[in-house]
Amino acid sequence: MRVNIDANGNINGTLVLPLWQDSKEMAEGSELGIHRTLKNQIDTVLEAGDFKAKSGSSMTLAGTEGGKALLIGLGKMDDVSSNSMREAGAKVTASLSKIHGKTLTVRFHGLEDAQMANFVEGMILRDYSYDHYKSKDEDNEDNDVELTVHVTCEEEKAAVLSSAAKHASEVASGVYLARDLGNAPPNDLYPMEYARQAIEFGEEHDNVDVKVINYEEARTLGMGGLVGVGMGSYRKPCMVIFEINGNKPGPSPCIVGKGITFDTGGISIKPSPSMDEMKYDMHGSATTFGVMKALVATGWNERVIGVACMAENMPSSNAQRPGDVIKTYSGKTVEVLNTDAEGRLVLSDGLWYAGTHLNPSYIIDLATLTGAIVVALGHEATGMWSNDDELLSKIQASGDHCDEIAWPMPLFKAFEKEITDSKIADTRNLGAGRWGGSNTAAAFLKQFVPNKGDSDEQIPWAHLDIAGTAWGAKTNKLVKTGATGIHVRTLHHLITGQ
Ligand code: BES
Ligand code: ZN
Ligand code: ZN
Repeated sequence: MRVNIDANGNINGTLVLPLWQDSKEMAEGSELGIHRTLKNQIDTVLEAGDFKAKSGSSMTLAGTEGGKALLIGLGKMDDVSSNSMREAGAKVTASLSKIHGKTLTVRFHGLEDAQMANFVEGMILRDYSYDHYKSKDEDNEDNDVELTVHVTCEEEKAAVLSSAAKHASEVASGVYLARDLGNAPPNDLYPMEYARQAIEFGEEHDNVDVKVINYEEARTLGMGGLVGVGMGSYRKPCMVIFEINGNKPGPSPCIVGKGITFDTGGISIKPSPSMDEMKYDMHGSATTFGVMKALVATGWNERVIGVACMAENMPSSNAQRPGDVIKTYSGKTVEVLNTDAEGRLVLSDGLWYAGTHLNPSYIIDLATLTGAIVVALGHEATGMWSNDDELLSKIQASGDHCDEIAWPMPLFKAFEKEITDSKIADTRNLGAGRWGGSNTAAAFLKQFVPNKGDSDEQIPWAHLDIAGTAWGAKTNKLVKTGATGIHVRTLHHLITGQ
């Protein structure tokens, strides 16, 4: 989507008109440049109450010489929120069909700067579809034409809106990348293919360094978690390390992502229904890469680190078994009681590597870790655990700002006890029962967060379980289908304050 901001004037293509609920007429002064016939049509519809402009509603007007219009309901002025404006913007992109063409003019009038910015952001975020694998429709060449949106507003507001729209597009490039990676089929997106794309990204930007720890190196280094999960697959595991602005001094924010490019469960194999959805089990690593891309796109010039723990969890004669004891990079051993609880194993090595080699100020991991978090929070929020109240509050505030909710969950000592009472190893990768499954998973991860320097205090760390928010969230109006790109915006905002 190309977005141009102009002062109110001419209308190009279809007129898009955002309206408050129960408006009986267009806002005064907003009629400029609208053809008389179209204006009459709009007036008639509003006067008659045929379009009430409820939140989530839209109406297309067409069929006259005056051109076409798409009316968008903003809901009640008293109920407006950043999310309602984003969703109204998303409704524009969602409502488009052939009749609207590929050029739009959005006419803002009487709206606040932030309201317009959120509306534009919503339009941009919803303007995504994953069609790399669809054959081109010869009869519909229009499908390839990029949408051009002229956004018009009062002259004195145009400059602020223009920079907000540019910022939203730049951050969205990271969201789109995360969605592309998440949606990619698992036969084409496997651990070393992710690494190849990361290396390519590093080569395209002077301020980005990408390092890959391949399977052989991971074995030599003693990364038993990553190796144990990935060794059963022909597509071998790897760890990908991103560093942005490495010339700037640390300590720096560090994002760690679970990157299981397909999770069959391994020997503890999953049931077949919906198993295809386990291609999304690398969304933590998709978000990690997406955040890096967004930071580079907005020109962030402080150091930031990312770690992606990539593996494919397959059953095979070379796969790990329930009952195996593995030694992780930290030196701690794990009794593998269920090979389907694999995310925590790859993350144990990623967290330890990040904390001991990369000089992080804090570490945030993202993982589609447990089905249990979907039971607890549905698709409405990500579960969040942290050893640091300040970090937790900052992530929560940042998530609220972006309407990507991260909801606090507990790290009770009892969960840590449950996950460390293996009869034969330091830890076990399965709780004693199935209750509180996402909490025991978080408590497991906590065992692999190193201390700060020589102190006995851990590095500030937060764990985000995105199993319910990475895909399949029907209430997320900013996504049509598939991977959501969740938390690229939250983390970009957290890191940059912008
Ligand atoms: N990738 C899954 C978690 C998952 C399940 C995400 C469903 C989204 C939807 C993870 O690796 C897993 O299989 N976890 C197990 C853990 C259990 C064996 C302790 C789970 O949640 O059932
Ligand atoms: Zn699993
Ligand atoms: Zn998994």
